[in-house]
Amino acid sequence: MILVTGGAGFIGANFVLDWLAQSDEPVLNLDKLTYAGNLENLASLQGNPRHVFVQGDIADSALVARLLAEHRPRAVLNFAAESHVDRSIHGPEDFIQTNIVGSFRLLEAVRAYWGGLGETEKAGFRFLHVSTDEVYGSLAPSDPAFTETHRYEPNSPYSASKAASDHLVRAYHHTYGLPVLTTNCSNNYGPFHFPEKLIPLMIVNALAGKPLPVYGDGMQIRDWLYVRDHCSAIRRVLQAGKLGEVYNVGGWNEKPNIEIVNTLCALLDELRPRADGKSYREQITYVKDRPGHDRRYAIDARKLEKELGWKPAETFETGIRKTVQWYLDHGDWVAHVQSGAYRDWVQKQYA
Ligand code: NAD
Ligand code: DAU
Repeated sequence: MILVTGGAGFIGANFVLDWLAQSDEPVLNLDKLTYAGNLENLASLQGNPRHVFVQGDIADSALVARLLAEHRPRAVLNFAAESHVDRSIHGPEDFIQTNIVGSFRLLEAVRAYWGGLGETEKAGFRFLHVSTDEVYGSLAPSDPAFTETHRYEPNSPYSASKAASDHLVRAYHHTYGLPVLTTNCSNNYGPFHFPEKLIPLMIVNALAGKPLPVYGDGMQIRDWLYVRDHCSAIRRVLQAGKLGEVYNVGGWNEKPNIEIVNTLCALLDELRPRADGKSYREQITYVKDRPGHDRRYAIDARKLEKELGWKPAETFETGIRKTVQWYLDHGDWVAHVQSGAYRDWVQKQYA
């Protein structure tokens, strides 16, 4: 089996669902269930014996050691993190604790487990660390996209904490020989995205008749990738990535934020028109900028494409339409997240 951490969050849940749809190999899913962890994302796996969920912290060394000894995974994929930049600005502590201390403790537990494996299992074992393009800092308009050798220049407490974890992962390979792989991906979007992030927030606010808050001038650029394409890239890197290597993941879809918001408004105008016949664009409101806001991210994914033959399945146009449709079709999921009722799921499910 494989051990996935953070598998009740946005990307982790998509990964677990896709994994179990494509493979017979079971998943042990370790997630602390912070505000961002939502077991409703995994509701379709209810009763599936190939999915074992454990609520717990990656920083809990004893728990992780016990899970590794009991389940003997052939790979550990670390998705668990505090992931929201704005939250890291308001309160960096949790980011240091999970993204740095948690990753460190997880690495230590995995190192001990891996060190005790027999030769064949040891050679086949992988630790895959899921990271972000934000560790590379911000690009000027004419700069080339980030390659894997771009220097680290994190600008927010979130990206600094992810950068620290990337460095630890690298060090565990160089110092101890731990068989690691790291992926640095651009902005994801798709089903189960928590509505604190740009795309889902705009969709749910638009439908609720609330303002669509665009930071600063709205001309910051992000490079968008449909979440299931990120998942397929991770599967490919796990399968064929070279030990100790880093792979950038992205879909060559750079867009200014205001263009994203306008696209969402146009799709909603088409799929769920406002009762008053006006466009959702009327709700766009420019607000105070994010402190230290990175201006532009762009990923050069050629290494992954050329060396491992990975390609995204979705264009931005197909992915964003699917995403808007998913939110329109999953009003209950949105309502439970907004009311906090999704947290009762744990109680209902595990009482
Ligand atoms: P998310 O916030 O939606 O989910 C994070 C999950 O981790 C949640 O289920 C949460 O409960 C769990 N978690 C948090 N702290 C934990 C801990 N100490 N122990 C165990 N579980 C814990 O995040 P996401 O958007 O799904 O991101 C997943 C990973 O991908 C993160 O490492 C993030 O840095 C990285 N990433 C995200 C994006 C993106 O656009 N969302 C892009 C590139 C990389
Ligand atoms: O680049 C990968 C990163 O993408 C991941 O590592 C992070 O975990 C993920 O949260 C995301 O970070 P961003 O800060 O880019 O995502 P967010 O959705 O918060 O914001 C996207 C852009 O939209 C950013 O320029 C800020 C802007 N924004 C965001 C919000 C929430 C707004 O203009 N208004 C908003 O209300």
